[in-house]
Amino acid sequence: MTDCTHLARRFIGSLRPGGPAPGDETWARDQLGPGERAVWARMSGTDRRHAVAVARTAADHLGAATTRPVLAAALLHDAGKVESGLGTFQRVVATLWGMARGRDRVGGRFRAYLRHDVLGARLLTAAGSDPLTVTWAAEHHLPPSRWTLDPRVATALKAADDD
Ligand SMILES: [Fe+2]
Ligand SMILES: [Fe+2]
Repeated sequence: MTDCTHLARRFIGSLRPGGPAPGDETWARDQLGPGERAVWARMSGTDRRHAVAVARTAADHLGAATTRPVLAAALLHDAGKVESGLGTFQRVVATLWGMARGRDRVGGRFRAYLRHDVLGARLLTAAGSDPLTVTWAAEHHLPPSRWTLDPRVATALKAADDD
């Protein structure tokens, strides 16, 4: 799911409190449908900052090919993390534990965190998201050979995501 350099960088970044800048927050909400906005509101400030950065970077790469469902996919790809309720330090432990044991061999809230792809896809289906948005939540930690999205879109979304 990640390597130690990325983990360290995300950890340091996640120590900064608060969500995106007000303009970014408004921009993000404007890309989302009503059900998606409710999911967005449950995400932590750290996760929303990460999501805005992913969406902006992916949009830069895709240019005119950037659609609303693609932006929603970038903004909500980690939405399943809301189900785990883990704080920053617990996330680090969960990630290391998953790396050491394999994410299918840990339990409880650590498992929910490490399976945030599956949980996110379920949340976004219930939120009425576009199939592309749901699919990317489910696939964003799979190897490229298992992606079903348009490869150009999936590659841009993955390249913009640093976890
Ligand atoms: Fe993720
Ligand atoms: Fe991510």
